[in-house]
Amino acid sequence: MLTDTFGRPMRDLRISVTDRCNFRCPYCMPAEIYGEAYEFLPRADILTFEELTRLVGFFAEQGISKLRITGGEPLLRTDLPQLLGMLKAIDGIEDLTLTTNGYLLSQFAQPLKDAGLNRITISLDSLDDEVFKTMNGRGFSTERVLGAIQTAAEVGLSPIKINCVVQKGVNEHTIVDLARHFQGTGHIIRYIEYMDVGNRNGWRSEHVVPADEIIAKIDAEMPLELAESNYQGEVATRYRYKDGSGEIGVIASVTKPFCGDCTRVRLSTDGKIFTCLFASEGTSLMGPMRAGATDDELRKIIAGTWTARTDRYSEERAASPNGQGPTRKIEMFQIGG
Ligand code: GTP
Ligand code: 5AD
Ligand code: SF4
Ligand code: SF4
Repeated sequence: MLTDTFGRPMRDLRISVTDRCNFRCPYCMPAEIYGEAYEFLPRADILTFEELTRLVGFFAEQGISKLRITGGEPLLRTDLPQLLGMLKAIDGIEDLTLTTNGYLLSQFAQPLKDAGLNRITISLDSLDDEVFKTMNGRGFSTERVLGAIQTAAEVGLSPIKINCVVQKGVNEHTIVDLARHFQGTGHIIRYIEYMDVGNRNGWRSEHVVPADEIIAKIDAEMPLELAESNYQGEVATRYRYKDGSGEIGVIASVTKPFCGDCTRVRLSTDGKIFTCLFASEGTSLMGPMRAGATDDELRKIIAGTWTARTDRYSEERAASPNGQGPTRKIEMFQIGG
């Protein structure tokens, strides 16, 4: 088993299959920066399905059993179900899941399920149309996303998780409604503290609603109790409703960083390994692979990168006086959440 300099194993691989997105969430891809003129990666610079399958095989040999497909918006990648089928067939891949904004999901839910997707995470920041329109940057209403959640449940992509990024003064007042709406449905909402990923969202610590406050607001209306983690290193802290009507989670990467247990490695759309969501540099696998590297050479790049890993960005940010870390970071849509 591969371990990094802090003894953390490599277990969970997250792959961004496209850097494009049909939303412009201001906390991720602000519309004023990512407008018509912005140049996303050309097709030739994106890992092909065959390349991805080859690389994931090496990751699986070295400890990865859990795979999450992300973007940008992964459903914009042509023939995605075909890719999922190829990845699911790799020895060692036990849990195959995907994070989507849900906008195109209704039409893809069944083909994704048929291809071997085990479960799904759908982002939905608010049920309030006006708030949601602002938060997706494109003026889309919630209707299609709610429909997609329903379709995903019908085809059996469960348990369904719903990600909600909480921003002070933006959607904070709608978090209890969101919880109430999904209480008793079996879907699990996870409230995510707004993070300083990338360089372009203008993050300030005052924009964060601490997880404890989120829990207190919900608990005041629908009493909660802490639940145990499902597995070591789980990002979300779980809470269940005392009346047995389900569970929610909070992801407190700002106020309670969880780097100590971080077993996640990321592969960017253009084939670089990133060992932290907040890294500034990645290690290219695409370059050597396209220059003719052998299987063993590629395995060594993966192993060497993980064993040299020293990342603990969120813990360092929490410990620094002004709450800010390195100046140049990779953007979230290039490596996925
Ligand atoms: P499960 O397998 O369902 O437990 O999923 P997960 O816990 O891996 O959660 P998911 O991939 O849905 O992550 C939810 C959100 O947590 C992401 O969109 C990020 O915002 C945040 N997150 C996930 N991994 C990390 C991480 O390694 N570091 C930080 N700081 N945030 C993370
Ligand atoms: N802070 C917290 N979460 C974020 N996401 C994207 N950008 C941020 C940020 N700055 C979340 C999205 C989605 C997942 C892919 O990552 O809401 O649920
Ligand atoms: Fe797109 Fe997701 Fe980023 Fe929003 S958070 S702009 S849906 S990639
Ligand atoms: Fe892992 Fe980096 Fe997130 Fe810490 S900040 S949990 S090391 S990805």
